Amino acid sequence: MALTLTDVAFDYAVGTSLAQPALRGVTFSVAPGECVVVLGPSGSGKTTLLRIAGGLLIPSRGDVTVDGMSRGARRVDPFRGAVGLAFQRPEAQFFAATVGEDVAFGPRNLGNGDGAAAAESALELVGLSPGDFAERSPFTLSGGEARRAALAGILAMSPRYLLLDEPTSGLDAAGHRAVSEAIARARATAGVVVVTHDAAEFLDHADRVLVLQEGAAAFSGSVRDLLADADRLEAGGAWVPPEHVRAQLLARRLGRTTSPPVLDPGEAARILFASGGVT
Ligand SMILES: Nc1ncnc2c1ncn2[C@@H]1O[C@H](COP(=O)(O)OP(=O)(O)OP(=O)(O)O)[C@@H](O)[C@H]1O
Ligand SMILES: [Mg+2]
Repeated sequence: MALTLTDVAFDYAVGTSLAQPALRGVTFSVAPGECVVVLGPSGSGKTTLLRIAGGLLIPSRGDVTVDGMSRGARRVDPFRGAVGLAFQRPEAQFFAATVGEDVAFGPRNLGNGDGAAAAESALELVGLSPGDFAERSPFTLSGGEARRAALAGILAMSPRYLLLDEPTSGLDAAGHRAVSEAIARARATAGVVVVTHDAAEFLDHADRVLVLQEGAAAFSGSVRDLLADADRLEAGGAWVPPEHVRAQLLARRLGRTTSPPVLDPGEAARILFASGGVT
């Protein structure tokens, strides 16, 4: 089972003077239980990639399959219920009078009873107690609570693939932690694709990383290989590594260490200390 994109290209505004390629042949896949992190500068095609993976945009070239099924001429939509997509700032889309109703809408729409039970467990999953939050108006929530409630609305549909576009942007440290924990829990049953601008966030959890640049894959592979390739990616403008990784790269360039860069800050400090880079 996997959500797979093969050599996918996409052009916006075809046939107009604004026509431009947003994706130029990208291949990747995610299986339930896996986490793929998508990085890349603004405008590199990350959101476009998620929209295609979520079945909202049809690629101009290439294939998208959900557990081996493509949309094709089938009457059954393979994306429906299987793929959940959280847009950038999903809380902008609340519409019901209460959080409970808003979160229950998706599962009810998929034929899962009145959706109440699914809504309740999804709220638990994101750390919002249904007793405290289900009857609240979604428009009275704090930014962090709203983001988690919006995430619950997607998790309530039990998607096998969860696509998240910058799920922690604009949140404080506690909000970051709460959303990361909810995603880690969701991963027990779902494949997760996370787009992020934060150089370090989610990489701890990533099975694979895709770095987009101008609509193409500048890098695709493991976190370990990403770190080994960090010099090239930074020089090419595809990725700005976290500061403690940059410090290790600098120490290596200066010949102070031969250790490959690591992501863990404690381990990074140890390498830098041993290299004489920190005195
Ligand atoms: N509706 C649209 N019409 C025309 N061009 C678009 C449209 N949406 C996006 N684009 C262009 O496609 C390219 C990729 O956009 P996309 O939103 O996928 O980038 P992104 O990597 O998500 O950027 P960001 O990090 O800023 O969210 C950009 O050059 C953008 O200007
Ligand atoms: Mg985007």
